[in-house]
Amino acid sequence: MFYPFEMEQYLETLLGERDPLLKEMEEQALKETIPVVTPTVGNFLNLLVHMGNAKAILEIGTAIGYSTIWLARAAEKTGGHVTTIDMNKDRRARALKYFERAGLQDCVTALGGDARKILPTLDSMFDFVFIDAAKGEYLEYLHLIYPLISPGGVLVVDNVLFRGWVVPGSIFVEKYDRMVNGLRQFLEDLCQNPDFTTTVLPFGDGVSVSRRLNAM
Ligand SMILES: C[S@@+](CC[C@H](N)C(=O)[O-])C[C@H]1O[C@@H](n2cnc3c(N)ncnc32)[C@H](O)[C@@H]1O
Repeated sequence: MFYPFEMEQYLETLLGERDPLLKEMEEQALKETIPVVTPTVGNFLNLLVHMGNAKAILEIGTAIGYSTIWLARAAEKTGGHVTTIDMNKDRRARALKYFERAGLQDCVTALGGDARKILPTLDSMFDFVFIDAAKGEYLEYLHLIYPLISPGGVLVVDNVLFRGWVVPGSIFVEKYDRMVNGLRQFLEDLCQNPDFTTTVLPFGDGVSVSRRLNAM
């Protein structure tokens, strides 16, 4: 998070209390430093799925299923389904238990494996895609995802401003050079793609929202 921590805290208070299951997951993630979306981003995903009446939803990066639950709760209302991918076996197993506890097991299919291998095997289109996996691989996911997004479909990507370091002129530790440059390339590619309209929102860790144009 790169803007004043107080602002994110304030925005969180506006959301009100999360239910005990989401709270438990937030606490687990914090304890084990599993990087899950902020509650404000979770709520935003839920809102977007509802607003777009999205049905076929794809997530890259399940972790323990926190953002998946925000997505799946909206999918339950739209009559949709979430397909989520993660290569970490242990996290996927924990996510499956959380989906059961949330009563969302029928709304979610959790695929295990490297998204870069799985995406080319998917033969259906998605009207809502959320990317939140390895930041160094975003550009690769993007090129694999482009053909899977339906006309009018939405693509949301988390961490695109990466602690604000993606903003030119920022000062950060040298070891993050590749990641920051990769994210800049990613944003350029996405924002310059004529098939999409994109905006970048400076909350959470930076969230991009793109819509595929209807005519292709
Ligand atoms: C930031 S966490 C996801 C957090 C989750 N979206 C949430 O907010 O609750 C990123 C996850 O992506 C997974 N991941 C990283 N690279 C991946 C890849 N190439 N294919 C599939 N999963 C990947 C990691 O195992 C990790 O659990």
